[in-house]
Amino acid sequence: MGERFYSDARLYDRLFPGGERAVDFYRAKADRQGGSVLELGCGTGHKLIPIASDGHPCTGLELSSDMLAEARGKADERATAVDWVQGDMRRFDLGRTFDLVLIAANSLLHLHETADLLSCLRSVRAHLAPGARFIFDVFNPDVRLLAGADGVRRPRDGLSFFDPDRGDVRVDVAETYDAAAQVTRGTWYFSTDLEPDFVVAPLELRSIYPQELPLLLSQAGLRLVERFGDWSGRPFTGDAAIQLCVCEAD
Ligand SMILES: C[S@@+](CC[C@H](N)C(=O)[O-])C[C@H]1O[C@@H](n2cnc3c(N)ncnc32)[C@H](O)[C@@H]1O
Repeated sequence: MGERFYSDARLYDRLFPGGERAVDFYRAKADRQGGSVLELGCGTGHKLIPIASDGHPCTGLELSSDMLAEARGKADERATAVDWVQGDMRRFDLGRTFDLVLIAANSLLHLHETADLLSCLRSVRAHLAPGARFIFDVFNPDVRLLAGADGVRRPRDGLSFFDPDRGDVRVDVAETYDAAAQVTRGTWYFSTDLEPDFVVAPLELRSIYPQELPLLLSQAGLRLVERFGDWSGRPFTGDAAIQLCVCEAD
């Protein structure tokens, strides 16, 4: 599920430093919805800490202890209260409901088995207060890109970064696509001139196809009410990069 990939939370934050439009989107949704927020797979709190700093009571559920420790440290530095919970989004029971449940940045795609996806979505449904919303974003599978995943290691464009502890870091990725499982199986290589491949981490992400997505939701008692194709709220179309989904209890 990518445990190794998420075992160095600082490296993860340096690899993906931006995403401000996503933060703004989720923040605005939390403000419009009002009330309490639960994020599943909250990572280092990239979205949840800003939402909590806006005054929403927030809970973050995360599998990786390293990501959670980093999230806790960042929230403490900002004197922002968040209820951090180590847990597995495949099945969880927090004993309460929320006004907004989020799964951001493809976190849902770490669940490869349909049974796991459904059990996660049913747990989400059980945690929705009356009138609550469930919002998540996953990439829109591009069959041309998936077909090009040939297992060859290549530099990943735009993902080199500067690490204050190590210097300039290059990122190479080798990916294949398992069409039967709908899973992209990648290996990510992080290197500096002095330390080639100082981290080599598998990362495997399922694809959820546009026609499949509402069916999965409906099986879990959820209804897709809006699907956007980008962070500006453009309606979803086949060439969109993401599926940004707003759901309610059915
Ligand atoms: C791509 S990161 C996204 C982190 C954060 N949501 C963000 O937007 O920056 C995916 C996160 O999902 C977590 N994760 C993966 N599988 C999980 C599971 N079964 N239960 C809870 N968290 C999980 C990973 O540990 C990782 O922190």
